[in-house]
Amino acid sequence: MSIPIYTYDAIIVGAGLAGCAAARELQNAGKKVAVITKLHPLRSHSGAAQGGINAALSDKDSIELHEFDTVKGSDYLADQDAVEFMCQKAPETIRWAERMGAAFSRSADGKIAQRPFGGQSSPRACYAKDRTGLTLLQTIYEQAHRAGVKFWDEWYACDLIYKNGKVSGVVAFNIRDQQVVIFNAKSVMFATGGYARSYKINSNAHANTGDGLSIVARHGLPLEDMEFVQFHPSGLSGNGVLISEAARGEGGRLYNSLGERFMEKYAPNALELASRDVVSRAILNEIREGRGVGPRKDAVYIDLRHLGKEKIMERLPELRDLAITFLGLDMITDPILISATAHYSMGGIPVDIPGHVRKNNTEFVEGFYAAGECSCVSVHGANRLGANSVLEALLFGRFVGKTMVAEIDNISLRPATQADAQKAIDEINFILNNNGNESVTGLREELQQCMTANAGAFRTEETLKIAIEKVKELRVRFNNIRIKDKSKVFNTELQEAIEFGHMLDYSLFIVESAIARKESRGAHYREDFTERDDENFLKHTMAYMDENGNISLDYMNVTLGKHELKARNY
Ligand code: FUM
Repeated sequence: MSIPIYTYDAIIVGAGLAGCAAARELQNAGKKVAVITKLHPLRSHSGAAQGGINAALSDKDSIELHEFDTVKGSDYLADQDAVEFMCQKAPETIRWAERMGAAFSRSADGKIAQRPFGGQSSPRACYAKDRTGLTLLQTIYEQAHRAGVKFWDEWYACDLIYKNGKVSGVVAFNIRDQQVVIFNAKSVMFATGGYARSYKINSNAHANTGDGLSIVARHGLPLEDMEFVQFHPSGLSGNGVLISEAARGEGGRLYNSLGERFMEKYAPNALELASRDVVSRAILNEIREGRGVGPRKDAVYIDLRHLGKEKIMERLPELRDLAITFLGLDMITDPILISATAHYSMGGIPVDIPGHVRKNNTEFVEGFYAAGECSCVSVHGANRLGANSVLEALLFGRFVGKTMVAEIDNISLRPATQADAQKAIDEINFILNNNGNESVTGLREELQQCMTANAGAFRTEETLKIAIEKVKELRVRFNNIRIKDKSKVFNTELQEAIEFGHMLDYSLFIVESAIARKESRGAHYREDFTERDDENFLKHTMAYMDENGNISLDYMNVTLGKHELKARNY
């Protein structure tokens, strides 16, 4: 049966903030653009961002301070040209979002309210209560829709069409009935989210499985800095559901089982508002040393009671609801049990500032772009500052959309053929028809447990070797899977199997990149190499996968700038 081929100027995969912002730019410039998304756009993971979006707006702040905090937060691995670009454009991005209709919370003098976040010299996170990502996503989706963008929602993009070093579209199937379709286009943008779901306890939406990363890697293209996985200090105990940094920004305090405000030991100046890597390690250290709280002693307390009911209800109503729903604890009257949760991916598909995807350290893929958490530009380096990700997604998404508009007329359409869908069809048929004895949920559980135990916030050569062997073993066992649902209608078991295949591949990138980085920097903490080693490792990892699934590593220079390398203290 022949596969339908739909032709557009541009295809965007992913309908979070980056995807919607880019699509709107293209559509408003008169380009024919389609967004492919496995969810309804408003369920994209951008909507889960709670606490804020950074911009130096106040008299007490400056763009230079925003840059400095970001570079210091990154443990000096961020590319300073990209950081400068982002921080300079941040205020305009906020004003644009407001003009688009985003209702930010206001201070008493009528200005956009800003709250403190970790690692910042000044209160810089603009917010909409504790629903900032959702507010922005609703606004930008609505504007993209209004512009006339065609959303293919509940379609699953399963392959990139990449031939002779150039892209010509994507292959996708309709989740409703498994119909496979080719989307042929001059340019393609990936905005497919991050890879923290490799870990058991994580704050990511169930659907946020980072598929774009391994789709790209399977074509021999590199992934950058995959060893850097951010653990957010405050996930609800037991399930990792995010309790925003806004809770600490508004004054929340962390306590151990002895009633000690333990951040005094780890970050005497910034306390709970040190950078995320520092606070997460402090929490996990307290637990490891036996000062955890809760029934399993695997949590610490965040105490917000001193803020009072009025402030909690005004600023943190969503967080209060989450803690009541999942733990039965009301932050107005009770301290809440939290611990570190895998949250964000600093690494990803390497791109330059305008969003071109790298083929290697010096070359780019014509017509292929990426933005948001799936990409690595790199503004976050080894550790992202809170409220810089929403900024990155919105700002770079919009800017990459403009780049695509500017370049699209110089790109010729490379016609897609039926054969371009074959790899995706083979993968679907394999999963549907294979009659082994392994279940996807069982294998995924083993992967996530192993990654958490061996490639988490603390790592050593020994634990990373265990993780590498485990991922390889799971890949072999994946060939022996069997799914129970063989139907064509909303077959989520099929989809989860495909997603799990992606998780396996990018997990190998995480652990292979991590074992080779014999230093501690930002979120990558090696207990066997506890110091930052600028002499040998002030460089980006560029990892490639060959046809046999093996990973090889290369490195790329960091773009330095006016913010000089220093020891990082908070
Ligand atoms: O803590 C939070 O609200 C998360 C924000 C972020 O990851 O930037």
